[in-house]
Amino acid sequence: MLAPPGYKDEIPAILERLRNKQTIEHLETHRQAKDGSLLQLSVTISPIFDSDGRVIAASAIARDIGERIKTEETLRKTEKLAAAGRLAATIAHEINNPLAAITNLLYLARKNPSLDGKAKRYLDLAQEELGRVAHIARQSLGFYRDTSIPGTVEISAALDEIVALYGRRIDSKGIHLETEYGPGLAIHAFPGEIRQLLSNLLVNAIDACGSGGQLRIRATSRNDWNHNRRSGVRITIADNGCGIPKPHLARLFEPFFTTKEDVGTGLGLWVSKGIVQRHGGSIRARSSTRAGESGTVFSLFLSGVVPNSPVQRIA
Ligand SMILES: Nc1ncnc2c1ncn2[C@@H]1O[C@H](COP(=O)(O)OP(=O)(O)OP(=O)(O)O)[C@@H](O)[C@H]1O
Ligand SMILES: [Mg+2]
Repeated sequence: MLAPPGYKDEIPAILERLRNKQTIEHLETHRQAKDGSLLQLSVTISPIFDSDGRVIAASAIARDIGERIKTEETLRKTEKLAAAGRLAATIAHEINNPLAAITNLLYLARKNPSLDGKAKRYLDLAQEELGRVAHIARQSLGFYRDTSIPGTVEISAALDEIVALYGRRIDSKGIHLETEYGPGLAIHAFPGEIRQLLSNLLVNAIDACGSGGQLRIRATSRNDWNHNRRSGVRITIADNGCGIPKPHLARLFEPFFTTKEDVGTGLGLWVSKGIVQRHGGSIRARSSTRAGESGTVFSLFLSGVVPNSPVQRIA
């Protein structure tokens, strides 16, 4: 009864060892609990002898190692993600210079009057594709490589700036934008990083919205919902777009997770989370895909407590 299916053969093998006066030490295996659930155990079994040295019983110690294994798995996954992130940033850094050179060379080549129509079209295509590469590099490195010292960032001004930057895209999709924030929401932060964070969330919301969709941006001065005493700014960006299916929600902040096959890098939210963490904040998403009431809300808290050293992206 103790051995779950797939582990039944273990028991006779264990008994055989015990009969041969051998010990089983730290055997990592599965056993079944009374309610049928599986337990991950580390089992040590030793034979007990009578005065003539015959095996008359066995003593078994089983330790539940489920939590430990779960922690190890989480750690491995975190390390893998961190490594993937470092790799992405390093590659982006390395390709940035040649990228700028190719962009300039293409620009010059396209100006050349000796080109025929076909060659021009090829160069146009090349430039478009190059734009994608540049987008990936920008996402991994940050809009403005922010190695400056942090300063005062007025959140409402930063939001106005971002809204203006994407105003054309919002208008051309016929999206109705509602904003609720006033002046006086200042935090201590890296300005370029905050702009990148807000643009990533806004662009995602615009992408998710169908034509005639709705966006709402709110910012208020707030206490952290986890640490009541810390004050800062809470920002929510809500859209009534397609929503995020449950299985995707858990993967949103992984590097390279994207559903926008040809246009997305899947780095936007990963970078954004890093920025939020560096600013002593938190980010979370709520979403619904139910027809008629679908949409997504990203909530940010920024405490504005940042390290004074320049940002180290490439560790
Ligand atoms: N507001 C939203 N509504 C619906 N889905 C969203 C929203 N925000 C993010 N997502 C989902 O999360 C995925 C990851 O977003 P993320 O910003 O990291 O990458 P991306 O937008 O695909 O590419 P890019 O790196 O160019 O931003 C998206 O592909 C999309 O499926
Ligand atoms: Mg994005």
